[in-house]
Amino acid sequence: MKLDKNKIQLSIGKNPSKSYYKLQILFKDHFPENLKTKFSLQTAAGIFTGDGGQVFTDESEKIIYLGLGESSKVKIRNVAQQFFTFGEKLKKWDGVGLEIHFPKLLTTALPADALVYQVVNSLEQGAYSINVLSKEYKENVKKIGAVSFVLQDAAKTKDAERGLKKGKVVSRYVNGTRYIAHLPANHFTPEEFVSRSKEIAKDNGLKITVFDEPQLKKEKMNGILSVCEGSDKKAKMILLEYSPAKPSTKKKLAIIGKGLTFDSGGISIKPAQDMHEMKYDMCGAAAAIHAIGAIAELGLGVPVIAAIGVAENMPDAAALKPGDVYTAHNGLTVEVQNTDAEGRLVLGDVLSYVGKKFKPDYMLDLATLTGAIIISLGHEAAGVMSNSETLTELLKAASETSDERIWEMPLWDEYAEDLKSDIADLRNVAGRAGGSLSAAKYLERFVDPGIAWAHIDIAGAAWRKKSSGTQIGNGPTGYGVRLLVDFAEKLGKKK
Ligand code: BES
Ligand code: ZN
Ligand code: ZN
Repeated sequence: MKLDKNKIQLSIGKNPSKSYYKLQILFKDHFPENLKTKFSLQTAAGIFTGDGGQVFTDESEKIIYLGLGESSKVKIRNVAQQFFTFGEKLKKWDGVGLEIHFPKLLTTALPADALVYQVVNSLEQGAYSINVLSKEYKENVKKIGAVSFVLQDAAKTKDAERGLKKGKVVSRYVNGTRYIAHLPANHFTPEEFVSRSKEIAKDNGLKITVFDEPQLKKEKMNGILSVCEGSDKKAKMILLEYSPAKPSTKKKLAIIGKGLTFDSGGISIKPAQDMHEMKYDMCGAAAAIHAIGAIAELGLGVPVIAAIGVAENMPDAAALKPGDVYTAHNGLTVEVQNTDAEGRLVLGDVLSYVGKKFKPDYMLDLATLTGAIIISLGHEAAGVMSNSETLTELLKAASETSDERIWEMPLWDEYAEDLKSDIADLRNVAGRAGGSLSAAKYLERFVDPGIAWAHIDIAGAAWRKKSSGTQIGNGPTGYGVRLLVDFAEKLGKKK
């Protein structure tokens, strides 16, 4: 069969599909007359009117009709959300594919590249199962049928292809992040973090440096070292460097990630309920190494360093104790009043090391740092605290296009008042009030003030127990990869 000129192929599944559903998008305000009777006759659950989220399947003709509401109000986020569920359906269809028709009205209302990018991403995320250690998972992976797009407006094909290419690359790294995030701590150890980083480095020609205990000791990175004292797994710092063949900007970006493969709280041990969720305490580091992979594979023009601090926080005879004082990489002494506030000890050292060694123009850290950010923002957005308005604006722009929500929170000096210690330069906790903000103020003490820096608390955004709001699916979200890719894209355009 000859392909339409405006039919672009997306192989989301492993098998070229023998059969497929045609997916037809319908708007409420442009509902075809001839379909009106058809739907009123056939829809048992009510009349199909093209309202947002309505789905009607004509099994005899193998056509699925999807309503997207009023064409003037259609948003990429809402379209993408629908396709997440179609991604989920692909898993059950046993090799049956999907041919998605985009009406002209849709690609007029929304930019085709961004639209296809997000649709591909949602399909791929929906089609990915998180039960990776089950038999069912292995069987399902093989079964997913192919997906293709047909654009009614052929003039948009080039844009759509660009979105498709980006979607295929980025979604692979998003799902890669979700994969390692969801692996339990006995499967994904600090050593495994090294292997995964090596894989990403090898695939993309990145420079990789791994700091084991001796190098960490030599560099006086006692924050990282203190955190892992109660664990039998040794701490690491892993650096990945991407130097574009043709840089498009002189700006240098550093991405830092918190990589606690498990956080029991240490001696300040967490309550048993939900402690298993602390295998997700490495989502910042997972996003950082996958984002640099995606940025490199897309060949973006901005030089990037990803640096992650990796450790396991456990209670043991050798563990760090409440009240202990250590000297951090930048020379500050820290009184550890609560060993569960360990992420900041790890990040402090990495921020200080990267700032000094690489002098980046922009430095972002991603961390599942505080439970308080979940209280503030739920699972809908990450909290952003920054010392630079320019950087915040750039992040907001990236958030808009990537569809990964951020919310700006204050970094006022008052939030640092309770970080005072009566024995050392500072203490690692400041009470419950404004917990995410005092955590950010703590990190700020390890950042060279000449560097534009933003702390992104992803404790809520990185995972969730159930679908919430516009976020579908449970478990790890891979949050951060899409945000960082768009941030790097925008930074690449800066002189
Ligand atoms: N990893 C946790 C933060 C967290 C909590 C992430 C819930 C995801 C879900 C972090 O290390 C932590 O325990 N923070 C403490 C800080 C407190 C002791 C000042 C917290 O948020 O309770
Ligand atoms: Zn903790
Ligand atoms: Zn933690």
